Amino acid sequence: MHEELNIILTGVREHCPEISTRAEFESFKATISGPNGSLTKVMKGMGKVAKEDKPAMGKLINDTKAAVITEFDAVLERLERADLASKIGPPIDPTLPVPDCRRGTLHPISQVREEMVDLFRRIGFSVAEATELETEHYCFDALNIPSDHPARDMQDSYYLPDQLTVSNVSKHSDEKYLLRTHTSTVQIRTMLNEKPPIRIVAPGRCFRRDTPDATHSANFHQIEGLYINKGVTILDLKATLDYFVKSIFGPKAKTRLRPSFFPFTEPSFEMDFFSPDLGKLSNKWLEIMGCGMVDPEVFKFVGIDPEVYTGYAFGMGIERIAMILQGVDDIRYYYQNDLRFLKQFA
Ligand code: DAH
Repeated sequence: MHEELNIILTGVREHCPEISTRAEFESFKATISGPNGSLTKVMKGMGKVAKEDKPAMGKLINDTKAAVITEFDAVLERLERADLASKIGPPIDPTLPVPDCRRGTLHPISQVREEMVDLFRRIGFSVAEATELETEHYCFDALNIPSDHPARDMQDSYYLPDQLTVSNVSKHSDEKYLLRTHTSTVQIRTMLNEKPPIRIVAPGRCFRRDTPDATHSANFHQIEGLYINKGVTILDLKATLDYFVKSIFGPKAKTRLRPSFFPFTEPSFEMDFFSPDLGKLSNKWLEIMGCGMVDPEVFKFVGIDPEVYTGYAFGMGIERIAMILQGVDDIRYYYQNDLRFLKQFA
């Protein structure tokens, strides 16, 4: 028996380090301590051992069993560690320098936004901001957008649940909260807070329930402009936008105003521009913004006397300008955070 136990333990010690899978382990373990295992058989033989030898044999069996368990535990621990290592992959040293580690750069949309805002800063505009979450009042009513206007449709805008309260955006009545659909909201908030003369641009994020395609994204950016003073005319509007377009698209660019309609401006225009130096887009009139003279109805909402002051407003999509400038033909590239795309604008 003594001899048998020795053989079993030696066999276990020799074989265990060679085990490389859980299945191998289980079947080997069965040959030792399973119902027909070699150690089990020895233990069953205890009945035949002479009475006086029993204590010594019992101790020997227990010691052998303990030694076998130690070997088995070591195998299990080794297999578990290997399994974990294969799951987390090869070891890495997070302190090593990244091979092409460069300083981060502004996102292409931010680059164009900064360029646009800078051009307006140079001619006396300051930057205004307001919340992205808005009330219907600021997004529509105060901009003279009637309650049956299609832009207010549930299908076009992201409304928030009625029971929501937002501490820094107060409702005027039982109107709804929504994500702003344009930056024109900043016109209203600025006119309520400041006295004319007012000369601001308001860059910011807007949201519409558009199905994303090459030219639409549910989340996009606009720059709004507003100038209010005594004696502001369409000539001022045209001259400012001319300066902007020539600065951003080059001195050969031409502009034109086309009659249009917006509830918050009267008269309203679409501004197009035309440039011989735009690659595929050369020599075509391209629509880039809406604009007009602030409607007296809007002045009434914010308590500015339309007999004393006049003003112009404009609003344009930053992505639209960025796509033209950067030769990007699908707006979705801007939001995929694909470094192969982003690095082209580094
Ligand atoms: N808010 C308009 C839009 O999102 C754009 C716009 C048009 C803004 C005319 C203006 C404006 O300030 O005068 O489509």
